[in-house]
Amino acid sequence: MLRALFLSLLFLALQSHSVNAYPGFHTLLWDLHGHIARQVAADSGPSTILLADLAEKGVTTPVGRTIHDILRGNTTAIVDPSVTYTRPDAVIKAGLGGLDHPACGTDTCCIWSYIVPAMVDAFSENGGTRCSALARSAIRIGFHDAARSENRGLANIADLILSWHSEFSQYSPNPPSVADLIQVGAIVATVTCPGGPRIRAFVGRPNFPKKGPAPPEGLIPKPTADPKTIIAMMAAKTFTTTDLVALLGAHSVSRQFFTDLEFAGFPQDTTDGVFDTKFYAETDAPSAPVGVYRIASDVALAGDPMTSALWKNYSGSDAATQSRWTGAYASAYVRLSLLGVANLNGLTDCSGVLPQSKALP
Ligand code: HEM
Repeated sequence: MLRALFLSLLFLALQSHSVNAYPGFHTLLWDLHGHIARQVAADSGPSTILLADLAEKGVTTPVGRTIHDILRGNTTAIVDPSVTYTRPDAVIKAGLGGLDHPACGTDTCCIWSYIVPAMVDAFSENGGTRCSALARSAIRIGFHDAARSENRGLANIADLILSWHSEFSQYSPNPPSVADLIQVGAIVATVTCPGGPRIRAFVGRPNFPKKGPAPPEGLIPKPTADPKTIIAMMAAKTFTTTDLVALLGAHSVSRQFFTDLEFAGFPQDTTDGVFDTKFYAETDAPSAPVGVYRIASDVALAGDPMTSALWKNYSGSDAATQSRWTGAYASAYVRLSLLGVANLNGLTDCSGVLPQSKALP
């Protein structure tokens, strides 16, 4: 019941141009209090805590098995390049009218094979050599679901997600939910950034009912928060420090606009729009490179005894470091993308529709 109420919030908020809840962090807190996941994230290595029905009832489907293995750290969250999606024959034969074809409506991933290219288009910039401002927002919106003030700068991506929702809802008996559009959007945005991993994409998150109370505020860590607070907030959502440090690498593509108005538009490393490890080394350096704005909490975590070794683990610029980081990022992101979803066994794996990763420049 509470979950349903929380789920309704993003939809309402998106409609009013603020981004205000996907079934993620708030719901997971409820899950924790509601005894679905009782463990607290341990601090060594990636989290292995199971979520939702996988914790309660175990694995009942092949997709449930895949998600279980990712959450337990037994399998990679990165999709092999050989995994691709082919539309049903009847849809291919229908040519331009394929999206309207009933065979597309009954194949869950088919509609996504039309949505994803629209996303790639919006998320690419400069001939594909970097990802766009909308891609950065899409990655951020996958994480943030909190109060209005914490979501400044996300109105454009919220608009775009809603426009995809109404455009593609016409075509399918099972139209994509806003929650799926947000999480698949974040995953597509990530792989559109050069260097970004091709993270497994599961769909089938429920649609939101239209009424519900406002979510509690302050559940998203603030850039002024100290490491202990941020670590505790993430642990309450099943993430370890290993996961946190890997996830913060998303700031490798990012820019800040509202944290410090004097430096509005400044990136967090010298290669924003590219998913590389420069962010880690540059955040840990004695001073910021010219033109880079470092977020206070990132600098604090880079230097804190609880996280500095993890931070240094990603501070190299070689291929092995990149692959270590993107692997850890993908695992932690799949967990994040599934928070608050009750029926993980009931999701569909549509990873094949994702574009291939792009090499770093
Ligand atoms: C956990 C602690 C985190 C803190 C304190 C934090 C803080 C911030 C801040 C202050 C900004 C700049 C906002 C602005 O002034 O415009 C930002 C941007 C961003 N954050 Fe985070 N963040 C955190 C975690 C994450 C995670 C886990 C992700 C994704 C997985 C993420 C993705 C992004 C992205 C992509 C942007 C850039 C948006 C753009 O360029 O328009 N952040 N974050």
